[in-house]
Amino acid sequence: MIILAVESSCDEMSVAIKKGKKLLTNVVFSQIDLHTLYGGVVPELASRAHIEVVVKVINEALVKANLKPSDIDLVAATQGPGLIGSLMIGMLAAETFAMIYHLPFLPLNHLEGHIYASAIDSKIKWTSLILLISGGHTELIYAKKDFVFETIGTTLDDAIGESYDKVARVLNLGYPGGPIIDKLSVEGNKEAFKFPIPMADSDNYDFSFSGLKSAVINKINYLNTHHEEYKVQDIAASFQEVALESILLKVRKALTNYKIKRLIVAGGVAANKGLRLKLKENFSDIKVMIPPFKYCTDNAAMIAECAFYKYKTLSKKEKLNLFNYGVKPFSTKEENHAR
Ligand code: KG4
Ligand code: ZN
Repeated sequence: MIILAVESSCDEMSVAIKKGKKLLTNVVFSQIDLHTLYGGVVPELASRAHIEVVVKVINEALVKANLKPSDIDLVAATQGPGLIGSLMIGMLAAETFAMIYHLPFLPLNHLEGHIYASAIDSKIKWTSLILLISGGHTELIYAKKDFVFETIGTTLDDAIGESYDKVARVLNLGYPGGPIIDKLSVEGNKEAFKFPIPMADSDNYDFSFSGLKSAVINKINYLNTHHEEYKVQDIAASFQEVALESILLKVRKALTNYKIKRLIVAGGVAANKGLRLKLKENFSDIKVMIPPFKYCTDNAAMIAECAFYKYKTLSKKEKLNLFNYGVKPFSTKEENHAR
């Protein structure tokens, strides 16, 4: 089966094609340059830029895979959560493609896509704990088998990636802030500033990042207004240390209480080098799966992978229903996915 998948939930337009388990191509058109000026994604600009490239990106993927549209067997696209305008462009283009070539059309959940990024080059085994950390989400998920996911903890306010982006914006570091803060952290002193670890004493699996974000921003503003010298690297390292420790704390608690020996890390923040190091140091007795860097942030390869597994779970009737075009509502929940 050859799957063509489209991902456009935020500021990337991406199209991937996979033949069976083999990924043939994963074209990602990023809009970072467009949004960096504003320190975050501007939804209206994102949708308009998607309109301009969507057909080109689909064509490029077909050319790179050396395929014709009629070679495709299944079309998939991210349905949500995400920015509604961005989602609509990818969904409508993908569904139109499916209609023209009489193909089944499978709408998918963006977060499930992130989870299956780990399956692109590897095999996922269940039961697993999933740590989903992105610009819009911070979740701990107890997963018994494919697509049987129970969220056991979530952020009460900002997502972890969002807090990275907001701290970076105040430091004038550009967008997205995560990779920049991660890089600067290496050269900084993590003890230079003491910020409290959020939710350290709570007895659940929830997270909170808005208090930490405000504490860091207040500190920066204080230092600036009092003309005190400081190293941006020290702020980055001190912030990252506490943000990551709060994540590790909850992961450790969930692994112990649920007696799980497998951890899957998913989402853009999974690209964080500091986190990867800490996971290695802390969980040597646990099987930890983290996607390669290129599959951590938004991309269609993870949506194609998710489609591969999702399609297998469908009944005959559900597969036939994939030809009922135009009846799948967009997921409008969590429209404010972007920062
Ligand atoms: O998964 P993703 O591409 O989009 C969402 O679904 O939100 O994640 C984007 C987020 C941004 O907030 C970005 O700053 C963060 O992932 N990110 C990182 C790193 N690379 C990307 N955060 C920390 N360290 C990184 N190396
Ligand atoms: Zn994402």
